[in-house]
Amino acid sequence: MTRDLAGYSVIVSRDDSGNMNAFYNMCTHRGMKLCRADKGNKGRFTCPYHGFTFKNTGELIGVPMQKEIYGGQLDTARLSLHKVTIGTYKGLIFGTWNETPEPLEQFLGDFKWYLDLAVGRAEMEVMGPPQRFVVHSHWKIGSDNFVGDSYHTMVTHGSIAELGMVPNATYSKKGYQVYTSHGHGCNIGYPNPDFAFPEELRDEYKANLSPEQYELLGSLKNLIGTVFPNLSFLVSHTKVKGQLISNTSIRLWRPISHDKMEVITWLLVEKRASEDWKRRSREAFVFTFSPSGIFEQDDTEVFTDITAAAAGSLPFKKNFTYNYTMGLHREPETDFPGPGTVYADKFSEASQRNFYRYWLDLMSEPEGGAGK
Ligand code: FES
Ligand SMILES: [Fe+2]
Repeated sequence: MTRDLAGYSVIVSRDDSGNMNAFYNMCTHRGMKLCRADKGNKGRFTCPYHGFTFKNTGELIGVPMQKEIYGGQLDTARLSLHKVTIGTYKGLIFGTWNETPEPLEQFLGDFKWYLDLAVGRAEMEVMGPPQRFVVHSHWKIGSDNFVGDSYHTMVTHGSIAELGMVPNATYSKKGYQVYTSHGHGCNIGYPNPDFAFPEELRDEYKANLSPEQYELLGSLKNLIGTVFPNLSFLVSHTKVKGQLISNTSIRLWRPISHDKMEVITWLLVEKRASEDWKRRSREAFVFTFSPSGIFEQDDTEVFTDITAAAAGSLPFKKNFTYNYTMGLHREPETDFPGPGTVYADKFSEASQRNFYRYWLDLMSEPEGGAGK
């Protein structure tokens, strides 16, 4: 498949030995884009410009008329595709342009404990193709919203409470806000008297989670988080046709420019759930967090207007700062079973402060620093 990594196209391919490889999607002869498909099955890639052919391991294996026009002098070993560093965690593939990054496990660190609840609680599968849509918003507004903004829900999504789909407007306040190192953070809605996951999979959840994670999952109302910088996830419970059902999605806020992003969302379902459960979970997802979903439309409207208001060069904007002081007076919880810094209230901006602090650290590094 091809994916965008910070504005550059990358080919991710699995070779004959089952290894995953990733390359800059650029021919090493004159820089032509090698692969234009979104996904497919290819053992080799032939450049549309002069026909150099590369194996899906990155080696250059074919050059038209090589002997004759290069006189046997072409050093093909030096013309392999440029490798991109990738790592995988629970089926997710992460990439970076940093050639000597810290190990992915270390980058995710304590946040794995929370990410596991969304992507590692059972064997999960992607249901259907991803939903893609372009929003005229700066991408960090999405990351910021998912890293810890539950405060907006009672206003932005107030009509959902009015419709009786959630009990009351402060439904979203109860629970925890957590952040960990490297800018990651999430909000955990808790407790929930109803178990909205497939009942028959309890043993699988137990086998994949620690007793503390399992306990949390059992009373989870929702879980919204961001893996720094632009991968977010959501476990949400929605009533569809009178029945409460969970739906789990992950999303990328893919920057296109400073005021435009593509949002790509994937629905995840438990592989061993019944077909009927999967179908209903998908219905709940489409109803809430797809481009036509009631929550998604509310949110993206706000993201777009914030971006528009931030544009331009009005004199007062030079010294204008947003306010991120919510919850500064609070002390973290000490008896929460999960790692990280935890607050016993979802209405807090501690996670956002942590996100931007890490962002600032990276942006302040000299060129070529570790976070590059
Ligand atoms: S640019 Fe690819 S073969 Fe020339
Ligand atoms: Fe929202």
